[in-house]
Amino acid sequence: MADLDEGSPFWRRVWRALWRPSIRWPVAPLLAVGVIVGILFWGGFHTAMEATNTLAFCANTCHEMTDNVYAEYKETIHYQNRTGVRAICSDCHVPKEWGPKVIRKVKATGELWGHITGQIDTKEKFEKNRMKLAQNEWRMMKATDSRECRNCHSFPAMQKTKQRPRAQKNHATAQQRGKTCIDCHKGVAHLLPAEYDEAADEGNLDNSPTPASPPPSPASGAPAAPQTPAAPPSAQAAPDAAKSN
Ligand code: HEC
Ligand code: HEC
Ligand code: HEC
Repeated sequence: MADLDEGSPFWRRVWRALWRPSIRWPVAPLLAVGVIVGILFWGGFHTAMEATNTLAFCANTCHEMTDNVYAEYKETIHYQNRTGVRAICSDCHVPKEWGPKVIRKVKATGELWGHITGQIDTKEKFEKNRMKLAQNEWRMMKATDSRECRNCHSFPAMQKTKQRPRAQKNHATAQQRGKTCIDCHKGVAHLLPAEYDEAADEGNLDNSPTPASPPPSPASGAPAAPQTPAAPPSAQAAPDAAKSN
């Protein structure tokens, strides 16, 4: 029965002590302790963020990913290619800069809730929700001008003459019209949702009826057909390239 004014309860005393200026301890050691605790906390936080960015974590922690997107991704060029540069889940899905990264991680804790409550825990449920999930990603990538793709790829770094003619043509138009990677490159790492209608996708220049711009034929309305696979030199990227996309 502690009286509020006199013998105060334990936590109340701790609270007071914390706010009472220290007479006993000089400032420097107090500061040092603060800094050390801060560094440890920071290091732990950072380690946790990095641990949840690895391929092993993203691919194997829950079967929702293992059975669906991971299995599909393993068949694509971003998993294995001639030069051995691999793009893992977090390269495409987690921003590199600190602020956006923390925000993405906080959102991911919501996904944990989805896991616990089994929102996509069967193949059927996954496919049923896939369009919604994909649209979320597309919206984010569109909003950031495909920032994560551009951590590795960029128009200036492309050796255009080595690209297939269809790619060259589309990349030129893309730059003129301010289009971004995800407008045209949906489904680079996973299967597309069943509901996705490529021909009706307006962002995808390659498929939308080109509104009177490039001089040649209105051929761009018909996807790949007119461009013959073309002979040119570097066949190097071709065999692998045919796998994804
Ligand atoms: C970690 C680096 C990295 C990131 C991030 C990345 N890519 Fe790639 N991408 C690669 C590599 C490496 C290749 C294979 C290059 C090769 O061997 O020709 C590739 C290949 C491609 C190809 C060619 C596919 C083919 O069939 O030839 C496309 C298209 C592509 N990426 C689009 C994207 C898009 C869109 C994004 C963002 C959603 C993205 N990439 C993110 C590294 C990356
Ligand atoms: C206007 C649509 C469009 C935009 C925007 C676009 N691409 Fe492409 N890209 C294409 C097409 C079409 C191809 C050829 C695909 C094919 O032949 O299968 C292609 C091919 C590629 C290839 C393979 C090149 C080759 O010759 O093998 C890579 C890599 C690539 N794009 C990356 C990107 C990246 C990264 C961005 C964003 C910086 C981007 N693209 C933006 C339409 C686009
Ligand atoms: C090269 C970039 C890239 C890599 C690597 C990648 N993703 Fe994706 N991911 C995308 C894009 C782009 C989308 C948006 C849908 C689409 O276009 O396929 C997407 C969509 C998703 C979705 C929503 C469902 C769907 O299929 O649309 C999930 C879940 C997902 N990715 C998880 C993963 C996991 C887990 C990994 C690693 C095993 C991974 N992704 C690797 C680019 C990537």
